[in-house]
Amino acid sequence: MIVTTKKLFEAAYGKYAIGAYNINNLEQTMGLFKGCVDSKAPFIIQISKGARSYTHKLMLEGLIRSADQVFPDALFAVHLDHGDEESCYDCIKSGFYSSVMIDASGEDFETNIATTRRVVEAAHAKGIVVEAELGQLGGVEEHVAVSEANAKLTDPDQAKEFVTRTGVDSLACAIGTSHGAFKFTGTQGLRFDVLTEIQKRLPGFPLVMHGSSSVPQDEVARINAAGGKLQGAKGVDDTQFKRAAELGVTKINIDTDGRLVWTRVHREYFLQHPEGFDLRPVGKIFMAEYAKFIASKNEKLGSAGQLDALRAMLQVVA
Ligand code: 13P
Repeated sequence: MIVTTKKLFEAAYGKYAIGAYNINNLEQTMGLFKGCVDSKAPFIIQISKGARSYTHKLMLEGLIRSADQVFPDALFAVHLDHGDEESCYDCIKSGFYSSVMIDASGEDFETNIATTRRVVEAAHAKGIVVEAELGQLGGVEEHVAVSEANAKLTDPDQAKEFVTRTGVDSLACAIGTSHGAFKFTGTQGLRFDVLTEIQKRLPGFPLVMHGSSSVPQDEVARINAAGGKLQGAKGVDDTQFKRAAELGVTKINIDTDGRLVWTRVHREYFLQHPEGFDLRPVGKIFMAEYAKFIASKNEKLGSAGQLDALRAMLQVVA
């Protein structure tokens, strides 16, 4: 059942983080729902601009509606990831999305505020929740590419001013992570000092951590052993998710890790089956492996096992 992102945040704040997972196709959708139902975790489905145009924007909506029937126990929100103004308005108008992200973080502070404010007004008029970003993550996320030199941590004082002036519902903060499979080129890690300062200025306000894939080293090694070339790939230490959740991080975005599972499964399968050309046997392995990955991630986020409490809070009859 689709629920509002706001309710998910209210239930989770300070206790655990909700996994926000990107999907692009049928197999990811099945694996995501199965993994979350198996681990009894609420979740957020993220659809990026690129995912909307991969086939047709209505295709993923159709998949999600069907998955909702196949997995009646699932409680989730549907979110536009890294939208611009145009895609935000399109999703707000569609009536399908629980929340949108307006990413004007590449603009100057005042332009980011003005753009975010416009989207907030349009979204709130329809009861839709808005995430915005302040500061800049390094790395590549579809149309958003930021060099490490231009990456900028969120300024805690600006964060407070930004939230007050825009009326936004959650804030994506740059606290040391980056998008993609090549994070932390040096020894840097999550900046809990910055996060602590942001939470002090915005107590009770949901914060979002982008770029949170952990890029498991065994996954990278298996991909490389099966012909991949991902030397030096590195990610976030996911044992730190619960500490981040205590400091107000309520939504944690994970996309790259799912792509790595897909890459490993497909590379290994076709290496072991050079005669193969049927997409279903490998698709089945991927769905099962992705569901396992999602369930184990939800344990790290603390969202595993929270479904019954959330259902009681929302007074949803199972
Ligand atoms: P990763 O690249 O670390 O998975 O981050 C994804 C993300 O933040 C999507 O918005």
